[in-house]
Amino acid sequence: MSVLDRFRLDGRVAIVTGASSGIGVGFARGLAQAGADVTLGARRTDRLAATAALVEAEGRRAVAVGTDVADPESCRNLVTAAMAAFGRVDILVNNAGVGSAHPALRETPEQFRSVIDVNLNGCYWMAQAAAAVMRPGSSIINISSVLGLTTAGLPQAAYSASKAALLGLTRDLAQQWTGRRGIRVNALAPGFFKSEMTDQYRPGYLESQSARILAGRFGDPEELTAALIFLASDAGDYVTGQTLVVDGGVSIT
Ligand SMILES: NC(=O)c1ccc[n+]([C@@H]2O[C@H](COP(=O)([O-])OP(=O)(O)OC[C@H]3O[C@@H](n4cnc5c(N)ncnc54)[C@H](OP(=O)(O)O)[C@@H]3O)[C@@H](O)[C@H]2O)c1
Repeated sequence: MSVLDRFRLDGRVAIVTGASSGIGVGFARGLAQAGADVTLGARRTDRLAATAALVEAEGRRAVAVGTDVADPESCRNLVTAAMAAFGRVDILVNNAGVGSAHPALRETPEQFRSVIDVNLNGCYWMAQAAAAVMRPGSSIINISSVLGLTTAGLPQAAYSASKAALLGLTRDLAQQWTGRRGIRVNALAPGFFKSEMTDQYRPGYLESQSARILAGRFGDPEELTAALIFLASDAGDYVTGQTLVVDGGVSIT
């Protein structure tokens, strides 16, 4: 096997949450380009249909399932749909996430909990449901953020806490499942990539952070997808419990 063959995902089945917009669309397409069939989950099913068309345009099969990752039953339904369509799940990409920016003294319990419910709890419900059917050689990738490692000038207690907690969840699931079940669990920590989430920032915010980006520009989603394929595939076979930071250098400035 050549080193590039290790990155191929032919015959594998992936689940991508949050595949209705932004980074998740690129993940689904990239997984299909590497050879995987893809099950897509998010709440906006019309947008999922568009992502499914992108997967099919790469010659792979796609199934789209309306999913709210804050609901454990909805997470189980997504995994059940993947099993019904493809008979296996090899890769889970826990990408669904919501942003928040509330000054700490004004943030309500509901606002705080709603972010934790999706960004942290949703990843756990999905991981539990997927790991129950995954075979040895499978891979779970949790999409955290550089905001799990540093701050970036906004009041983001809920978001930062959820993304930092996800790194702890990643380590713990790796130690529970890698040896016993042959499932690797890793986290990807993106820096700044333009998406619907970053479009919500106030005008000038992204530009105010650009001095911290050593690479001198925002990330291209395909650069993140390349790192995802490494973690998802046999190329990353000996990597587990780790956080791969893809941020053009933000987190070291
Ligand atoms: N863009 C960046 O610079 C950046 C940097 C660091 C980390 N990230 C992380 O990357 C991930 C993707 O973000 P993005 O930038 O691509 O933002 P985005 O375009 O807003 O995408 C967020 C995705 O999450 C889904 N989602 C939200 N709540 C959900 C729920 N309850 N159940 C199921 N799906 C849900 C959304 O779909 P529906 O609304 O259709 O449900 C959407 O597909 C997030 O975890 C984010 O924290 C992004």
